[in-house]
Order: sequence, then C-alpha cells, then structure tokens
Amino acid sequence: MKGIILAAGAGTRLYPASIPISKILLPIYDKPMIYYPLSTLMLAGIKDILIITNEVDIDNFKKLFGNGQQFGLNIEYKIQYVQKGIADAFLIAEDWINNDEVALILGDNIFHGHGFSTLMKNALKNNKGATIFGYTVKDPERFGVVEFDNNKKVLSIEEKPKHPKSNYAVTGLYFYDKNVCQYAKKIIPSQRGELEITDLNRIYLEQRNLNVEILGRGFAWLDTGTHDSMLQASNFVQSMELNKGVKIACVEEIAINQNFISKENCLKFISKFQNNDYYKYIERL
Ligand code: G1P
Repeated sequence: MKGIILAAGAGTRLYPASIPISKILLPIYDKPMIYYPLSTLMLAGIKDILIITNEVDIDNFKKLFGNGQQFGLNIEYKIQYVQKGIADAFLIAEDWINNDEVALILGDNIFHGHGFSTLMKNALKNNKGATIFGYTVKDPERFGVVEFDNNKKVLSIEEKPKHPKSNYAVTGLYFYDKNVCQYAKKIIPSQRGELEITDLNRIYLEQRNLNVEILGRGFAWLDTGTHDSMLQASNFVQSMELNKGVKIACVEEIAINQNFISKENCLKFISKFQNNDYYKYIERL
C-alpha cells in the first residue's frame, strides 16, 4: 500500500498568509500543516509516500522532509502544473503507483481520535474497492455528501449538493484498490472544471465496491481552509497537547511506535535541533 498527500492547492482563501509559501506548510500550532496528514498515513502503516505539490513550493517540501529516511519513509515528489481537481492525482501518480493499492489524503485535512490507527488498518485489510470516511457536520453543502439507507448501506454520493441528503460529509482520506488509475481516466471535468473525487467514488459505488467508515463522536476532523478554522485547529491541538502532555502528529514519535525507525537513529537525527520544545519532547520519549 502506498500513500499520496495532495498538497498542490493555491490556498487563495488564506491570502496573504499563503502568498509566499504553500498553505500546507503554514503552522497548525507547533508544526507545519502537512505533519498532520503525513502522520495519518503513517498511522495506517504506510511508508511509501508521494507528495504532489505545485511547481513553486516543491523545494520547500523537499527541504522539510528530503527523502523521508529520518522517519523510516520513502518520500517522493511530483508536481501538479495545472489545478485539475483531486482525482487528477491518480493521473499524475500513475507510474509511481505502479498498479499498487493506494491511499490519498488532502494536505489540509486533520484527523484525531482514539483507535484511528486500528480503524484504518482494519479498513485497509477489508478494502474490496474503495473505502472512504464519513463524518457528521452542520454544513454538508460544503463537502462531498454520502446518503445511507436504514441499514447504513450507501445510496448516493454527491459533490457539494445544494440540498444535501444527509449530514455525512466525505472527509479527505480515501483508500483505493489497483483499479483507481483506470477509473480516474474515465472521469470528465465537472462544471467547476475539476476531476472530482466524488465522481471517482461514484464509479466504485455503481460497482457496489464503495465502503464508508463512519468516524463517530470521539473523532475530530478539522478543516483548515480559512483563517478562523486554522486558528481553531491550532487551538484544538494546543489544548490537547497541553492538557495531556502528549503531542498530536509528532511524526518522529509515530515512526518509533510503528517501528519505522529505532530510537537510536531518531536521537541521532534530532541531535542537531536544540533548545526547542518539540524536539525536547521527542528526546524525553
Ligand atoms: C474536497 C472534495 C469533497 C470533500 C472535501 C474534504 O472538497 O471535493 O468531496 O468532502 O474535499 O475536505 P474541496 O476541497 O474541493 O472543496
């Protein structure tokens, strides 16, 4: 299983903050935003990671992560030259995916909740086509929306419907089987000119191969699309970290817990960073 982080958006809603640098590299409390989706993929047990970025930001992402070996990962990079929608990721990444199964996560999606790693690993093990994650929201018209019957069987999936058929938003985390690139080629651009991820998911639904895992009340799925929601996400992470004394999305800690790296190698890597709370936390582990 491989994993893609889509980090190519222009982030215009966050201008001027995101004019000089990709919004995905702006901080959410004590670390760049991309640490959060990266940690989600790592918690799913994924080590081969492709970051899709735009042309101007690629060097900043490389500066942050390099080839990922300090976290026991293999990180590669590709550019999305024109913003053509989320499903375009599978056309850009087809060679890299190389007929493997693949997860996709949007660079601005933050997930947090007890048992998330197990939930994802089970979903991966049982995946027979596509698995997506539903979360109740109060403004479903802003998202992909999934409709269920009384037995929680999926009836429909729609992108930003004016009249949503449920309150279940589709979050920005998707697991796909080997057919994903072939199916992505069948999609035609929507009215907003994008290859919609919802159209890809609908292909799986039509084949009865779309599984939706519900993230219950114990989970947080945070949006970081506006200045207010970014600040709220930062406040959430700060409050959790200060109260509990543990960090959210500390990729070094996750790499150790997942046995991607040894404690010794991690210590070697962080020895160059001093006088810093983030790295002192890792040292204490
Ligand atoms: C995208 C998807 C939408 C999904 C959302 C999750 O929306 O198109 O289906 O619910 O991500 O973050 P967009 O970011 O294009 O508004």
